[in-house]
Amino acid sequence: MTAHPKICPETGELLFFGYSSIPPYLTYHRVDASGQLVQSTEITVGGPTMMHDFVVSRHHSVFMDLPAVFDMELAMSGGMPIRWSDDYPARFGVMPRDGVDADVQWFDIEPCYVFHTLNAYDDGDEVVMHGCRIKELWRDNADIGDPATATDDSSPLMWEWRLDRASGAVSERQLDEQPSEFPRVPDSRVGLTSRYGYTMSAVFEGTGELIKYDLDTDTRTSHVFPEGQTPGEAVFVPAEGGTNEDDGYVMAYVYDRGTDTSHLTILDASNMAADPLAQVMLPRRIPTGFHGSWIAD
Ligand SMILES: [Fe+2]
Repeated sequence: MTAHPKICPETGELLFFGYSSIPPYLTYHRVDASGQLVQSTEITVGGPTMMHDFVVSRHHSVFMDLPAVFDMELAMSGGMPIRWSDDYPARFGVMPRDGVDADVQWFDIEPCYVFHTLNAYDDGDEVVMHGCRIKELWRDNADIGDPATATDDSSPLMWEWRLDRASGAVSERQLDEQPSEFPRVPDSRVGLTSRYGYTMSAVFEGTGELIKYDLDTDTRTSHVFPEGQTPGEAVFVPAEGGTNEDDGYVMAYVYDRGTDTSHLTILDASNMAADPLAQVMLPRRIPTGFHGSWIAD
């Protein structure tokens, strides 16, 4: 299984998938709230696509069959075994969460790659999803994230897709011009409408930033860190007794290049630009770029 299972906040189900460079390329699974594996279903995709993440709504699971594909020749040469393919159609597949392969409705989209989705929700006949979209990656072995080879085309940008199950139509749009990645919504909003989404700016030099998107108003605010400090993935932790979706805390590990130290920063989610509420200095440096998670006791 991959590193991005989804836990449905309403049913307690764990929804996840695994992918492979040899058939079956994609297998979808559900574990019920009691921990029993209740479904494993092979899903037909166009080939050995690299599928890092997927997304769920209240009623649907959405697979991302995209043109970053496994290449045996590259693998045998000992290099990065994934390459961009101009011949591989880019598609999103929408399936009822308890559906099977034949139930998947595929939507052709503009070619892109998405490592990480923000969230999705059902809106009438539409499944609306957000994610950090890269126009293309790993063409000519260019390494995403490497300042020496990165191009504008490999910058992840917040994007919206609306997949209309009735008409089969797709509409998509860019929400922001600032690159960012590691998108998260509150765990309680997975698969449901979420007003706010959090990302970290994909800045590898200079200052780092944690961004808060307001999807209702198409605006954003952010917390800009001091020069040389780079945050990791932001995790939202609800405040006890909170009523608004952003009543709570945004927490992230921050690496400070100047001192080669790391700390945990705790921001007020409803006031991202303000000084941190707290900083917890850590006895060990934590490398940048890792995912985050919060487990309440
Ligand atoms: Fe990931």
